[in-house]
Amino acid sequence: MENNQNTAGSMKAAVRSRYGPPEALSVREVPMPTPGAREILVKIHAATVNRTDCAMLTGTPFVYRLFIGLWKPKQATTGTDFAGEVVAVGDAVTAYRVGDRVWGFDDIGLSSHAQYAAILERVAMELIPDKINYEQVVASAEGAHYALNFLKKVKLEAGQKALVNGATGAIGSVLVQLLKHRGLHVTAVCGTPNVERVRALGADKIIDYLQGDFTLDDERYHYVFDAVGKSTFGKCKPLLARGGIYISSELGPYSQNLFLPLFTRFFSDKKVIFPIPFNIKHSLQTMKKLLEEGRYQPLIDRHYALEDIQEAFRYAASGHKIGNLVVKF
Ligand SMILES: NC(=O)c1ccc[n+]([C@@H]2O[C@H](COP(=O)([O-])OP(=O)(O)OC[C@H]3O[C@@H](n4cnc5c(N)ncnc54)[C@H](OP(=O)(O)O)[C@@H]3O)[C@@H](O)[C@H]2O)c1
Repeated sequence: MENNQNTAGSMKAAVRSRYGPPEALSVREVPMPTPGAREILVKIHAATVNRTDCAMLTGTPFVYRLFIGLWKPKQATTGTDFAGEVVAVGDAVTAYRVGDRVWGFDDIGLSSHAQYAAILERVAMELIPDKINYEQVVASAEGAHYALNFLKKVKLEAGQKALVNGATGAIGSVLVQLLKHRGLHVTAVCGTPNVERVRALGADKIIDYLQGDFTLDDERYHYVFDAVGKSTFGKCKPLLARGGIYISSELGPYSQNLFLPLFTRFFSDKKVIFPIPFNIKHSLQTMKKLLEEGRYQPLIDRHYALEDIQEAFRYAASGHKIGNLVVKF
């Protein structure tokens, strides 16, 4: 093992032994991980607390437990993304070296809410470009991955009209920017305090959901992206032009967004798509390029110390965070 770090000893990590609320989590001294032959040891500089982390903490929806542990979490330490520095590599690792700055994401967990994490070389991760800092890059993974998976499912054309509900969220704030890059006219739905923030992301028109119901807008759209999953296809249908497409980040009442794609495919001129996210590596590569070109601005709401991670989880679970919450180490 190549090593510039004494990997014996202990470190601080956010750990839990059961699924539960933020109170189930505590910051403790735990043994430092030793990287296996195909793992790298990363000194974590930043991680986010995001909605995927919330699902991992609570073990909901239940079906998610098929991947993360049926009755109790397989991983004691929370955390799905990281940005940091490689401090040791296993003997069989070929792609990374000690001193590399790396960032990565895995929706089934990386135990990255810790000072150090041992990460398998095959996990989706990328080298961090020189001019990009740890915070920027770590806030460009989770929401961005889901937003990119929304867009993989549709054939965007410049000049088309799109509406993004929940434009202040981790997913929505990326969607607004990506849609603008592709030349679409974007209407963004957000709350009063965030109107200027969302305008700065490039939105052409803003609807303040605290002042009125966006589903009553008289514009007709090629796409309605409900990035916060607060609406339904039924409510948004009048907003869609003929051939228009509705995509939500949530399953909707009675998990309807799983069944509506099949039904609307045959029986409606307005369609529903429910994207199953895949290929995280490709998402990271896309975001890395956009960051390097200065064409993407991650939205960061609050910063936390590891010791305050319960508070970060409480805020993330409230459904009111603006973009990303970054834990700094
Ligand atoms: N399908 C998947 O694979 C997948 C993966 C990850 C997440 N999700 C789900 O996708 C949803 C969004 O995730 P996210 O990470 O983007 O969420 P997030 O970062 O927590 O953001 C939600 C945003 O929506 C805004 N909001 C709340 N109520 C709203 C309303 N009625 N109308 C418009 N905006 C509203 C909030 O701001 P204000 O309250 O301040 O206005 C907040 O900025 C969550 O429900 C999450 O569980 C799905």
